[in-house]
Amino acid sequence: MKTIIKNGTIVTAESEYCADMLMEDGKIKAIGKQVSCEDAEVIDAQGKYILPGGIDQHVHFSFQFNGTSTRGFKTSCAAAAGGTTTVIEFVNQVKGKGLIESVEDYRKKNADGVAAVDYSFHVVMTDPRLEVVEEIPQLAQVGYPVMKLFMAYKGMFFHADDEAILKALLKAKEAGVTVMVHAENADIIDVFQKQLIAEGKTAPYYHAVSRPPVVEAEATRRAIYLAETAGAPLYIAHVTCREAVDEIGAAMARGQSVCGETCSHYLVLDESNLAKPDFEGAKYVCSPALRTPEHLEYLWHGLNLGWLNAVSSDHCGFDWKEQKHMGHGDFRNIPNGAPGLQNRLSVLWTYGVEKGKISRQQLVDLYATSPAKVNGLFPQKGSLCVGADADVVIFDPDYEGTFTVADMLHEVDYCSYEGMEQKGRVDTVFLRGKKVVSNGEYIGNNGDGQWLKGSPFGLLYQS
Ligand code: URP
Ligand code: ZN
Ligand code: ZN
Repeated sequence: MKTIIKNGTIVTAESEYCADMLMEDGKIKAIGKQVSCEDAEVIDAQGKYILPGGIDQHVHFSFQFNGTSTRGFKTSCAAAAGGTTTVIEFVNQVKGKGLIESVEDYRKKNADGVAAVDYSFHVVMTDPRLEVVEEIPQLAQVGYPVMKLFMAYKGMFFHADDEAILKALLKAKEAGVTVMVHAENADIIDVFQKQLIAEGKTAPYYHAVSRPPVVEAEATRRAIYLAETAGAPLYIAHVTCREAVDEIGAAMARGQSVCGETCSHYLVLDESNLAKPDFEGAKYVCSPALRTPEHLEYLWHGLNLGWLNAVSSDHCGFDWKEQKHMGHGDFRNIPNGAPGLQNRLSVLWTYGVEKGKISRQQLVDLYATSPAKVNGLFPQKGSLCVGADADVVIFDPDYEGTFTVADMLHEVDYCSYEGMEQKGRVDTVFLRGKKVVSNGEYIGNNGDGQWLKGSPFGLLYQS
C-alpha cells in the first residue's frame, strides 16, 4: 500500500514545514519536495496539518470498580477516530500469578485480534512478594518498561504502601523499568470520606472535598523522595494541582529524573462540574478529582515550564445511567473515571493551540513524542521521520463544532466535554500506512492493532 500526502504542513515536536510524505509498506518512506511514486494514492492536504499519530499512555479498557468494568478493547476504535494510533493499557497483576504471566494472559484474552490501534501495557503490581519484586527486571526484557503502583484506593487489592513502592523502585532502576505512581494519600482520603458520609454529605461533589490538593501533593512529594532514596526515575500519573506540579518542578531542579503527566480533562474541566444537579456530577467523578480554575491555569503553566511532559486521556468509560448510579446516596461507590480517548487531540488543539497556551510543536510533543520516548517506543512511534511507522494524522484546523456523545465511539452514554466548543478535527488517520479514518469517519477494523515491544530506560531518553 503506497500513499503520498501532498501540500500539507508537517508538524513535529521540533519544527513545522511544508513537504510531501510517501508512506509505503507501513513505514514513512520519503519526505521532501515534489515526492512522487507511480502507483501511490495521492491525498491533497492543502490547508491541513500532518501530525504523528498520538500515543495515549494512560487508558483503562478493563478497570474494575465495585464489581463493574469499563468498556473493553473493542472500543479502541475511538482512539483512531481521535488521532491516537497507540494506546497503553493498565493490567492488574492477578493474585497468585506473576507480573508477566498476568499481562500476557490479559493480552491474549482481551487485546490480540481486537485492538483497533497498536497497543502495549503497564502492569500494576498488586502483590509485592519477594519473587514478584524480583521479576520486575524481566519486564524490560519482554517489552513492558513502565509499571504502575497505586498509592490511592485504600482497602482495594491494588493499593500499594511505601514499602512496596520503594522495593519496586530499587529493583526497577537496575533494568531501566520506570515506576509510575497514582499519587494520592489513601489514608487522608479514607478519613475524609468517612467523615463526610457520617455528616450526610453523600453527593458527587463531596468526592472532590474528600481528596483536596494536599492529598495529591503529599503523595507526590513522598513518591519523589522514595525515588530519590532509591536513585530511580519516577513517573507521576495524572497530575492535577499546583502543589503537585511544584513538587515535580523542585525535583527536576534537584536533578531528579521525574516525568509528570496530566490529562485532557484536568486542563479544561473544573470541579464545578461535580456540583451539577440530578446526579449529573457523577459523570465527572475521577481520581484525583477535578480542581478549581486556578489549578487548571497552573497545569498549562506547568506544561510550558516543562514540569509536565505528557497529556493522556486516563480514558475510563463507565456508563452514567447504570454504573455511575451505583454511587447514588454514597459518592464513594461511584466508579472512578471518565471517557476521553477520542477527545484528547481536539481538546488540546481547541483549548491549547487555538487559545495560544501551547504551540503546535508542544502539542505534538505532549500527545505523541514524549509518551513514545518514556515508553521506549520512539522513534518507531511518535515521530514523523523516514523509517518510522506510518502512523499519521491529517488534521483539519478549519472545522468548527461541538463535542457530543453522538460522535463518540467510546460506547459510553455520555461525553465528558458535551456541548463544549471544538475547533479543528481529525480528518484522516493512517495506522502503519492503512487508512483507518477518512473524512472524520472511522473506517478501520478491530484487529488492525499490533502489540508493541517497548525498550527500557525510556525516561532517561526523555529530554
Ligand atoms: O478515576 C480514575 N482516574 N480512574 C481510573 C483509575 C486511575 O486511578 O487511574
Ligand atoms: Zn490513577
Ligand atoms: Zn488512570
